[in-house]
Amino acid sequence: MKAEDQTNPLPEASATEVIAWALQTHAPRIAIAASFSMEDVAVIDMATRILPGIRVFALDTGRLHEETYECAEAVRRRYNLTITWLCPRQEAVEALETSQGLYSFRESVVARRACCGCRKVEPLGRALQGLTAWMTGMRREHGVTRHALGKIETDAMHGGIIKVNPLADWSQADLLAYTTEHNLPVHGLYSRGYTSIGCAPCTRPVSPGEEPRAGRWWWEQPEHKECGLHGR
Ligand code: ADX
Ligand code: SF4
Repeated sequence: MKAEDQTNPLPEASATEVIAWALQTHAPRIAIAASFSMEDVAVIDMATRILPGIRVFALDTGRLHEETYECAEAVRRRYNLTITWLCPRQEAVEALETSQGLYSFRESVVARRACCGCRKVEPLGRALQGLTAWMTGMRREHGVTRHALGKIETDAMHGGIIKVNPLADWSQADLLAYTTEHNLPVHGLYSRGYTSIGCAPCTRPVSPGEEPRAGRWWWEQPEHKECGLHGR
């Protein structure tokens, strides 16, 4: 993950200040990407206080947990939002499943990235069309691939648009405090030991002391744990 952009006007700004700057600079051509993790709900909560009806999109990979849909509905109703859902191309999924089977992602990093490419990366490209910026719930604490995450970055993978990570420097304690203070909807898997929200067959609960994303693609090395939405 690339380091903070030299052009970032707000390196020390709080999450709310970063979001306010992003909305002021980019609305209406900005959207929040949501997997309905605690992080994403916190970003949605802060953003809707500034811009009710902010654009939110979600990538329905076809392999999500039921709890993800339940949390998405809770968020949609609480904030009166329109959530744009993007699904993978039908022909691409049919070809992948027919030729590789239903669990090809367990076989190699290359096979896993092919699945993420079809179910996440291609739909993300469509979600970002026409936008000049997008926002995520990524944090530096998530793991080795994110230690240098900037709050405001240029997203070279998506035509150089701006990528805003308002929670980049938040700790897990910061996130829990915000979630509790504002009584936010919480994804149902957290109470079952999950600390990161992804696809059902590629995410497991973690043990105390493990990194937050240790349960994602747990059979892979930590440096490979990106799906292609945010680099490799
Ligand atoms: S990722 O590798 O799956 O992208 P992670 O679960 O840590 O990593 O998510 C990081 C950010 O990517 C989330 O905060 C969210 O902004 C975005 N994101 C991840 N999964 C999705 C999804 N299914 N739909 C929309 N955005 C997503
Ligand atoms: Fe496929 Fe797993 Fe990636 Fe989901 S996380 S798109 S199921 S490889």
